[in-house]
Amino acid sequence: MRRFEDRIVMITGAAHGIGLGIAERLAGEGAAVAVADVDAAAGERAAVRLAAGGTQAVAVTCDVTSGESVAAAVAAVVARFGRLDVLVNNAGGGLNLPDLDELTDDDWHRQIDVTLMGVVRCVRAATPHLTRSPHGGNVVTVGSINGLAPFGSVAYSAAKAGLRNLTENLASRCAADGVRFNLVAPGTIRTRAWDDQPDSLDRIASTIPLGRIGRPDDIAAAVAFLASGDAAWITGVTLPVDGGALLNAGRVFRDSAARTR
Ligand SMILES: NC(=O)c1ccc[n+]([C@@H]2O[C@H](COP(=O)([O-])OP(=O)(O)OC[C@H]3O[C@@H](n4cnc5c(N)ncnc54)[C@H](O)[C@@H]3O)[C@@H](O)[C@H]2O)c1
Repeated sequence: MRRFEDRIVMITGAAHGIGLGIAERLAGEGAAVAVADVDAAAGERAAVRLAAGGTQAVAVTCDVTSGESVAAAVAAVVARFGRLDVLVNNAGGGLNLPDLDELTDDDWHRQIDVTLMGVVRCVRAATPHLTRSPHGGNVVTVGSINGLAPFGSVAYSAAKAGLRNLTENLASRCAADGVRFNLVAPGTIRTRAWDDQPDSLDRIASTIPLGRIGRPDDIAAAVAFLASGDAAWITGVTLPVDGGALLNAGRVFRDSAARTR
């Protein structure tokens, strides 16, 4: 499948993990890819690797907690490729915060800043370009099943929950401009975010109905679908990609290490 021929895609947090998997998938389907990450060195390495495989790829330094940084990154992508067709909001993750009783206001602000406001900043900068896409622009945001059910990690989960409502409002508001907004909600995915908790991964794997921990390419396949023309009549949806974990919501995971995600 080459669903992204002649498509310019910007992916935040694409230097590692799920974002890198999305970059590889969309590049494999013909996209020109901007790797937008606060980790400039790893972003550069990812872009060089994509380019070696024949992709038009560029690394742009982007910190989603700064409006100036995001605006400069989007401007750099448009300067390099001439336009922007797809934005994938993936940057961030859980901040390894304490449990509810010990969370400070600053903890809450920091988590919401990267997870929810980071997406707001990227959408604000990218949407004027997406409305001009000849293909019909679209945005896919990476949320979490934590935003859909009570798995713990309250600040992270509340911020991820906000992404669902944000996606629905943006989808409704921007439909007339031909810009679609959708949300993918991963379950537990093996990335470096779990490196220090191998035992938790084993325990979680045993509770997942489809029998294994997810991989970045599981998420990339869903993002590719929603960002492609195959989803041209889909906007405002949330697609869980979790091996069936939501079927266990609030029961199996309640006191497990999933609290930290
Ligand atoms: N791994 C999981 O189990 C899991 C589950 C559900 C949702 N998610 C979500 O998937 C996304 C990717 O997570 P991952 O597991 O691949 O983590 P990861 O740490 O492997 O990758 C995160 C990427 O985001 C970048 N990043 C962090 N802060 C940034 C900032 N302020 N500006 C720009 N880039 C920034 C990092 O440099 C890194 O490249 C996150 O939104 C996370 O919440 C992950």
